[in-house]
Amino acid sequence: MEIVIQKSAEEAARIGARIVARQIQRKPNTVLGLATGSTPLGLYRELIRLHREEGLDFSKVRTFNLDEYIGLSFDHPMSYHHFMWENLFRHLNIAKKNVHIPDGLAKDVPAFCERYEKDMKKAGGIDIQVLGIGSDGHIGFNEPTSSFSSRTRIKTLDGQTRKDNARFFKSITEVPHHCITMGIGTILESRTCLLFAFGKGKAEAIRESVEGPMAAMCPASVLQWHRDTRVLLDEAAASKLKKRAYYRSVYAGKPAWQQY
Ligand code: GLP
Repeated sequence: MEIVIQKSAEEAARIGARIVARQIQRKPNTVLGLATGSTPLGLYRELIRLHREEGLDFSKVRTFNLDEYIGLSFDHPMSYHHFMWENLFRHLNIAKKNVHIPDGLAKDVPAFCERYEKDMKKAGGIDIQVLGIGSDGHIGFNEPTSSFSSRTRIKTLDGQTRKDNARFFKSITEVPHHCITMGIGTILESRTCLLFAFGKGKAEAIRESVEGPMAAMCPASVLQWHRDTRVLLDEAAASKLKKRAYYRSVYAGKPAWQQY
């Protein structure tokens, strides 16, 4: 794991965007795994800027989103479909056929999930997976105790996650109870993971994920096992890490060819 601590979320988002942009320049038909929530918004804004001002080309990029609420249609304002088109896709030159987001209205959910996994494989696997983290350590919607080898499937949301996400809905009663999410096993197959976390509210989840034992009670801790995970934090999210000084010195001492 590489831990990158920046003064602000904006700076961390800019580093993340540079990593994604370099990957797209190297491989124009890069496969991106994408996340929703407030955390990746800065990254998405920066990618949009790079597209508009520096011509970053998304015409061949393929994307697979982590998750979607069950029961919300594509155009529901709280659906992750809507979120992704509003906050990212409609601002880029991405082809609609290259965008994949789980279908919250799928009639046969297991069949849909199997197809989603097959489509990811057919695309050659995910090059960079963008991740946020829930306050309980979840990634995608893989709640605590999710299997480390799980694949895309239906999950029941934890009460805490429904409470956390209620801020986007009119009331908590509107927050769906179920979702489709890539599994932890699916996420582990991506070549690179970029985990972003900002703010004090994420400090404990980050401490457990980075320096705690690898345990299903904290799903993001599985990233300790992943061969190329970069954790991009602001000061507040990093505030409970014991080895903060070490992570800073590693980052400061990176040779020029390794810098972002
Ligand atoms: C949701 C998403 C996760 C996201 C998490 C944190 O539960 N399924 O992918 O990481 O929220 O959200 P936020 O970034 O708004 O704190």
